[in-house]
Amino acid sequence: MLETEGKPISCRAAVAWENGKPLVVETVEVNPPGTGEVRIKMVAAGVCHSDLTYFNGGYENAVFPCIIGHEGAGIVESIGEGVTSVKPKSAVFTNEYERRTTSRPFQKGFPPHLVVSSSRWLSDVDVFDPQTIASHNLNFLLRFRFKMASLSVSDHLRHTFDTTQRMDELETGIMLDGTTRLKCKGRQLYHYYGVSTFGEYSVVPEIGVIKIAESMPLDRACLIGCCVSTGYGATLNTVKVEAGSKVAVWGLGGVGLSVVMGCKAAGAARIIGIDIKAEKFDVAKDLGCTECLNPNDHAKPIQQVLKVMTDGGLDYTFECIGHAETMEAAFESSHLAWGTTVIIGIGTKRDLTLNPWKLLSGRTVKGSKVGGSVAKELFPRLCEEYLAGRLNLDKLITHRMSLDEINKAFDVMRAGESIRSVILFEVCCC
Ligand SMILES: NC(=O)c1ccc[n+]([C@@H]2O[C@H](COP(=O)([O-])OP(=O)(O)OC[C@H]3O[C@@H](n4cnc5c(N)ncnc54)[C@H](O)[C@@H]3O)[C@@H](O)[C@H]2O)c1
Ligand SMILES: [Zn+2]
Repeated sequence: MLETEGKPISCRAAVAWENGKPLVVETVEVNPPGTGEVRIKMVAAGVCHSDLTYFNGGYENAVFPCIIGHEGAGIVESIGEGVTSVKPKSAVFTNEYERRTTSRPFQKGFPPHLVVSSSRWLSDVDVFDPQTIASHNLNFLLRFRFKMASLSVSDHLRHTFDTTQRMDELETGIMLDGTTRLKCKGRQLYHYYGVSTFGEYSVVPEIGVIKIAESMPLDRACLIGCCVSTGYGATLNTVKVEAGSKVAVWGLGGVGLSVVMGCKAAGAARIIGIDIKAEKFDVAKDLGCTECLNPNDHAKPIQQVLKVMTDGGLDYTFECIGHAETMEAAFESSHLAWGTTVIIGIGTKRDLTLNPWKLLSGRTVKGSKVGGSVAKELFPRLCEEYLAGRLNLDKLITHRMSLDEINKAFDVMRAGESIRSVILFEVCCC
């Protein structure tokens, strides 16, 4: 048994004390994992724009003080009661939203009252068997999912669970049992969607971890936890980009470039990358863009430029920035009759203005959360793609930094200088 097992661990973590303030690296206490939870020693954590948006007032339900970060890879230090899918020393991804079983209901023949289906961001249907309900306190879990996915549920579940509760526990920064595992200077710290990767240790619900193949380097694996599964997954699940498609991608950060790689793998004929930072264009072309445009180089709005370039509009447009203006431009650039616009960016400060006349001929606008993926299937598949040399994660990493440099990672992101910064923790010894 490890010396630390069952005891609080004192370690370093970047604490977001207040909305809009830089993170502060502090000594924090990470309590042992509870039932159905896993304590992880973090090895690497990618820095996503959503982290920046979270501690800068962009999330309605943000709670402080907290430890943010959600794109992590690490080694399991210890497990709580009932955990079966991972063991101490297993290498794992953290997984923000995919807190569910991957079993298919009708294949397994579960009774309908245990089936929950999703209409929005899951491509699939969930099944929760009684054992899962018992071991993961699914009452909390289901409320989380009702909130996040506009779930349609059977009458039985509708009566059993309170679907009207506005905030669920994970979204409000606490674990599924309603408490937190993190403390600093005598204060409880909130978790970030049950993940919190910007600390040397973190406690995550078992349903928020996925095993990583041993041969996979963890500093690259962490990117699969959000950026790559979000971008690449959107091209597989939210829409199915076909060979020969014409696509445009707004924002060539980690998420946008992952969309580019997904479109290339699907055989898209034209992949037009759009960014105000021309420094991104060489990498974008290496990863699959056939052309790159800087809207600031054009006198006309970029949607008009694209319409001319593509003879009437694009089959698919992806917005990976989070601004209403670029979302509208992506919509306007899609083909009038069949174009689909996928909204991935988060944090827009105003609602979209879409003229309904422009939808009538058949255009579609869709949202995509973490690529609409079944993480337990997509994450291992993306590792295989990387290990086979078909997915270039290395090019996405422009900066490797220590935890002490975390605010610098946000500075280079704000300046548009990074693709992905990865925070590297001390080499794991547990
Ligand atoms: N939907 C999801 O599940 C999900 C998951 C992860 C991230 N996100 C969101 O996706 C977006 C991208 O994330 P990221 O980590 O790749 O961000 P990033 O900051 O690394 O990249 C954004 C890119 O957009 C470019 N940009 C900024 N303003 C622009 C403009 N007006 N026109 C053209 N280009 C512009 C920047 O130069 C940068 O290259 C963010 O909004 C993030 O919150 C969503
Ligand atoms: Zn993210």
